[in-house]
Amino acid sequence: MKTSFNFIAVLLTILLIAECSHKAIGQNIKANYDESNVPAYSLPDPFMMSDGTRVKTLDDWVKKRRPEILAFFKSEMYGKIPEGHIDVIYETLGESRVALEGLAIRKEIRVHFSANNRDLQMDILIYLPKDVPQPVPVFIGMNFYGNHTICEDPEITRTHSWARNNEAIGIKNYMASEAPRGIRAGRWPVKEILKRGYGLATIYYGDVDPDFDDGFQNGIHTLFYKSGQTKPAPDEWGSIGAWAWGLSRAMDYFVTDPEIDQNKIAVIGHSRLGKTALWAGAADERFALVISNDSGCGGAALSRRRFGETVAIINTSFPHWFCGNFKKYNNNEDKLPFDQHMLIALMAPRPVYIASAQDDRWADPKGEFLSAKNTSPVYKLFGLEGLPADQIPPVNQPVAGTISYHIRSGEHDITLYDWEQYLNFADTFLKKD
Ligand code: GCU
Repeated sequence: MKTSFNFIAVLLTILLIAECSHKAIGQNIKANYDESNVPAYSLPDPFMMSDGTRVKTLDDWVKKRRPEILAFFKSEMYGKIPEGHIDVIYETLGESRVALEGLAIRKEIRVHFSANNRDLQMDILIYLPKDVPQPVPVFIGMNFYGNHTICEDPEITRTHSWARNNEAIGIKNYMASEAPRGIRAGRWPVKEILKRGYGLATIYYGDVDPDFDDGFQNGIHTLFYKSGQTKPAPDEWGSIGAWAWGLSRAMDYFVTDPEIDQNKIAVIGHSRLGKTALWAGAADERFALVISNDSGCGGAALSRRRFGETVAIINTSFPHWFCGNFKKYNNNEDKLPFDQHMLIALMAPRPVYIASAQDDRWADPKGEFLSAKNTSPVYKLFGLEGLPADQIPPVNQPVAGTISYHIRSGEHDITLYDWEQYLNFADTFLKKD
């Protein structure tokens, strides 16, 4: 027993060193921040089928081209979910009708996944507004450090999954402690969301898959391995695919809860979890509205611009995020059968909000805007305007359409300003019947 424990400890150390050196390599590839050095590129046409025929009707888009694009994103970027059965059981961990000084209903749902003699638990924390007509619309997004970090509520169950060390907030030995309870409240304005009549649900992403390159030996991937399989096939899911899958399992719960409006679920995420929200929205059309906050490379930003973080940099720093096939496109973006505007196109006709931050050049705000803009023709096919702007708007002046966009002043973050725009957006599209 002791020997195997030592072996696991040594293995983990090697993996963590490998992760750090990957990061170092990724960060050593020089990023371009000069607009005049953006190479000439041409974006793939969302309407050009791979057999050379053109989408002419809505039916062509819905029945042929959308499935084709979705299949490309699956096999070449985020990875397919393996076929196979795992057991999923939903357990109500706790419920309070007087949470947050009586303002909210709080539910905690523990989802038990099991297969291959392994199991995993994912906790969904849900706050619902009180004294409003039910069922209620809900925002769902994943968080970076544990459900208990999003709000000072002492009753939120603390995760026991792997957590990224961050001594500044009291996370050591890869274990979430009590110290960071409520530390991320600034990113999750729970009371404002509730006051506007929305629920908020969140999941700690590390419950589904720990965010380090462990060779896919932990997390949900292992439950799906076929006999003898030790890692996902080149076209199977990486961590972002797994996190998005976790959001869909929360969606499976929402459809069973009569207090939640299953037709009014908005999926939201910041940064790597913004990439996750976009992929969740693309892969699972039950999400009625999709929000990407500063998702950058591998999210809303166009890969072909190679501005800030690039495909090669992201695949080197975070080799576990995308499927193995995505590495073929390192320094080879022009060979991608899509660009990220086509990921956003997969949301059509559902409302989608893309947001950037002015000082977040790593995420390429202009590339995020251009992605949103180049999606508009697909929305037009549905008789919708798409993004009503030709140029990137000035900071803090949102452009509102079925595709909405803003660039906020300040840094890479998700702030109250961002949330206020998302709540206004949801009022337009989710509150109407
Ligand atoms: C890194 C990474 C980005 C990612 C960000 C985050 O900066 O390079 O792609 O979006 O982390 O998730 O905070």
